[in-house]
Amino acid sequence: MILGRSYLTENSKHHLEMGGCDLVKLARKHGTPLYVMNEDLIRNNARSLVRGARERFPRCDVAYAGKAFLCGWMCEVAAEEGMYLDVASGGELFTAVRAGFPAERIIFHGNNKSWQEILLGVQSGAGRFALDNYLEIEMVNEAAKRANRQADVLIRVAPGVEAHTHRYIETGMLDSKFGFGLENGEALRAFHRVREQCSLRMRGFHCHIGSQILETGGLEIAARRMVDFAAFLAAQEDFRTEEIDLGGGLGVRYTQADDPPSIEKYLDAVTGTFLEECRRQRVDPPRLLLEPGRAVVAEAGVTLYTTGAVKDIPGVRKYIAVDGGMVDNPRPALYGATYEAVLANRPGDAATETVAIAGKSCESGDIVIQDARLPASRPGDILCVLTTGAYAYSMASNYNRLPRPAVVAVSGGRSRVVVRRETYEDVVSNDVLGRKTVERLLAAARARGGEGSMV
Ligand code: LLP
Repeated sequence: MILGRSYLTENSKHHLEMGGCDLVKLARKHGTPLYVMNEDLIRNNARSLVRGARERFPRCDVAYAGKAFLCGWMCEVAAEEGMYLDVASGGELFTAVRAGFPAERIIFHGNNKSWQEILLGVQSGAGRFALDNYLEIEMVNEAAKRANRQADVLIRVAPGVEAHTHRYIETGMLDSKFGFGLENGEALRAFHRVREQCSLRMRGFHCHIGSQILETGGLEIAARRMVDFAAFLAAQEDFRTEEIDLGGGLGVRYTQADDPPSIEKYLDAVTGTFLEECRRQRVDPPRLLLEPGRAVVAEAGVTLYTTGAVKDIPGVRKYIAVDGGMVDNPRPALYGATYEAVLANRPGDAATETVAIAGKSCESGDIVIQDARLPASRPGDILCVLTTGAYAYSMASNYNRLPRPAVVAVSGGRSRVVVRRETYEDVVSNDVLGRKTVERLLAAARARGGEGSMV
């Protein structure tokens, strides 16, 4: 157990081990930065959620929110574990379809779906469209009509609940770009609008109040408001809400100071409140959908870096630079997110100094960890940053034209590359050079004897 994580151990070589794999060996084999995903932990989380939800309410399904971490492999795992899938863009949808994820289990989100994305959704047979605005109501109806189909839809509602999380990841308030307000009557207007469309089948309502939620109170209020809305529609409109989707948001432990609710506690709170409110309002309980992303993958992921330059400013701070940073994990720069790290090549050494882990991008704000407690570090150490499984790979960029790292999955002592590392060729692959440049490069190559590449 390292830094309070039972899934991290020290092996006989005094290296950090996860999923039975030596993380130093993985770093040597695949290079750094490297994302490593603990498959067993992902599957355990998925099972606890899927089974736990069913045990509490047999008509409760769990969708994995792909935005947290998506690739073909993750789609396979989510499908095998009986999950549904929340996609929020054409790219996520395409990833899922290409990986053979059952389309009828896909919920298509997004606050500004394009016509092409909607067409892809209709053609691939996505199970649900979560409609976010009036334009989308029209477009999804039109696309379904042209395909001679009925699209099953949920209306995204902003239930006016504070999630008590970072402002940028709080989404359920009235003043939000997402969804139709409940309190100002927009959700009801959207309901009528959907019912007027001949190619839309109105299934129910969706909400998502925010992310990295560490107390369940906000989720419970949202559950009550959604049931309350269903009760209102039953009484006033004679409409039976078939489904309520309460979104995701369950928080995780980034540092030992975080104390998120367990999956069991979260399920108790959400399904318990939902069912109790249905009883109280005399509503036949609709099917319930939950959409956790972070809680499935965050703690299962670590990022391995190699340490390089050290800048020690006496009396001020010591910076240790790593070979990645905000390019592979923008969360510290974007949200001031905090992380913990350990040296994978000597996890047993006592921490003796507090240092800033600096990324390699040209931004002063590219600091992975502001105050990391580590043993005296030497260039070439393998630094392992914990809890990077969610919103790191999925939010990575090519800033400074840095290639994105590979993703390796580990389980039972075996490792497998599930996303290949990008190459410099990948980075330039969409660049279109001018004709003159191409001619000049070709001429130079011919002058060299025509051999080799253009550079
Ligand atoms: N469902 C919907 C409709 C969502 O918008 C989200 C997240 C989820 C589910 C999954 O939420 P989760 O269970 O992962 O909290 N980039 C930010 C997080 C943005 C989340 C956006 N929506 C971060 O790195 O913290």
